[in-house]
Amino acid sequence: MCGIIGYVGSDEVVPVILDGLRRLEYRGYDSAGMAVLGADSIQILRAEGKLRNLEQLAYQRPLHGTTGVGHTRWATHGAPTQANAHPQVDASGGIAVVHNGILENYAPLRRELLEDGVELSSDTDTELIAQLLGRETGPLGERVLKVLPRLVGQYAVVAVSRREPGTVVAFRQGPPLVVGVGTAENMVASDVTAILHRTRRVIYLENGEVAVVRADGVELRDRSGALVERSPETLDWDAGRVEKGGYRHFMLKEIFEQPDAIRNTVRAYLDSSRSGVNLDGLGFSGEQLARLRRIHLVACGTSWHACLVAKFILEELTGLPTDVDYASEYRYREPLLGDDLLVIGVTQSGETADTLAAMEMAREGGALLATVCNVRGSSSWRLAGARMLTQAGPEIGVASTKAFTTQLVALIVLALALRSSRGLSDGLDRTLLTELQRLPLAVEEILHTDRALYRLGTEMLAEATDSLYLGRGILYPIALEGALKLKEISYRHAEGYPAGEMKHGPIALVTEGFPVVAVATATATREKLLGNLMEVKARGAAVLAVAEADADGVRQIAALVLPVPAVHRLLQPVVAVVPLQLLAYNVAVELGLDVDQPRNLAKSVTVE
Ligand code: F6R
Repeated sequence: MCGIIGYVGSDEVVPVILDGLRRLEYRGYDSAGMAVLGADSIQILRAEGKLRNLEQLAYQRPLHGTTGVGHTRWATHGAPTQANAHPQVDASGGIAVVHNGILENYAPLRRELLEDGVELSSDTDTELIAQLLGRETGPLGERVLKVLPRLVGQYAVVAVSRREPGTVVAFRQGPPLVVGVGTAENMVASDVTAILHRTRRVIYLENGEVAVVRADGVELRDRSGALVERSPETLDWDAGRVEKGGYRHFMLKEIFEQPDAIRNTVRAYLDSSRSGVNLDGLGFSGEQLARLRRIHLVACGTSWHACLVAKFILEELTGLPTDVDYASEYRYREPLLGDDLLVIGVTQSGETADTLAAMEMAREGGALLATVCNVRGSSSWRLAGARMLTQAGPEIGVASTKAFTTQLVALIVLALALRSSRGLSDGLDRTLLTELQRLPLAVEEILHTDRALYRLGTEMLAEATDSLYLGRGILYPIALEGALKLKEISYRHAEGYPAGEMKHGPIALVTEGFPVVAVATATATREKLLGNLMEVKARGAAVLAVAEADADGVRQIAALVLPVPAVHRLLQPVVAVVPLQLLAYNVAVELGLDVDQPRNLAKSVTVE
């Protein structure tokens, strides 16, 4: 969703804003803009399309100042035009606002302003915030406190006023905002990747809080106006991790970072002997664990696929019945909550609006709330009583890769920990722990497979408009994930299906040359899967398979086998997904598409 950057300090602000916006490009956007505070004026630049258009404008019309805000917009209210780009200003042009979120009372507020004779110059909900601020009196921070009760919905807003050079005011309800605390300069951003290269000291704004940010300090208030004291925390991410590091795309870099990301995630939760799992510090009390009878996993998208895999693992290892829900569905149904239930919000960003809402509902219903999350300090991190950090490091490519495999690994480790707390540990635990520590080597082996091997599969999928991805059991969610990866970055239609469902409908799609991608590593149901593949092959399908190089029966059916090393059956999803990530990546590159910023997608879905 929208990216936000604000700066107050002594540097020329335009390069700071453009640099920050470039670092936020990965979030996905369709227009961009900035406001720069002059001696007693606000100068605004806005441009449709890519950031280079805004850069071009900034070059043609140089602006000078040391305070300003920038924004990349992902359109909600109003088309992605220059008029609807942010910043939006009030009627006097004295207050400029950038915003990420959606105002739910957009229609009545708009009607009210129009009836009062306010001339609106955009279709956005953001302009309404600027107009409301413009109609109040007093310093900007005080105006914000007066306007807050009028705003219904989700918003992260940064505002500047012509009358207050050297001040940036930020407030939020829902989407995140973080204040970066520097030396004689301070910043505000929608996420830390925009500011990490300048400071690692940050203050996360809580819902309802207002930050008045100046070069020499940050004043925090709650919605009642009371001062809030909160010291900055220091992030353990470094700026180098948000650079491409010689790779053509972030996605490729992140695929190749998986061995380290998995290694770090496993190590973080092993005890000192590396033969047991250490749950200390996760935040579960013994009493809470003893009460557990059920688990609900809630997530969206790729993280939801990780939950589908985890259901198999959690049920087998802990004996606890486990349900998986899309967070967007869970929050609007009436799940059976209670204190015997563990609800785990699985989220890379920790900011996905639906996942947060589902988690909040679970907490209110008395469930024990946990998160598996990749961003320390994010909203889900702060919300959950118990938390596991996936050690993937910043994920910039919109298509999630290393966050997914580290989620899988974290959830396996969590299953082992719950198993141990229930007194169920036996030889299987030791085997799994040893295998988990070998997993990075298995992934490395896949990454070093001859790229030429992917050629045929890349061509087949690039040429076809549709394809099917099939798997069974614990590998069925990997078929879903493989299909999602292809869809989101190559815009080729792909469906993931449990192979046993083929005959109940989808097989009607199969014609001569129709690509079917099978996740066919050695599980108890591989023979059944091979039977399904014979059926599609008999109808002309071209089968590609992910399987062990020597997999019995697979080579006879598949036109191409993308090899993976043999690993424990519960760990197969982690290795099986990697060739599918590479395949999707290769297809998108073959088609000349924007791999890291696919159309219409946002990295972090902070509104419903
Ligand atoms: C797809 C992808 C999305 C996210 C989903 C949830 O590659 O990245 O489907 O998985 O938007 O995001 P998080 O995990 O941040 O809650």
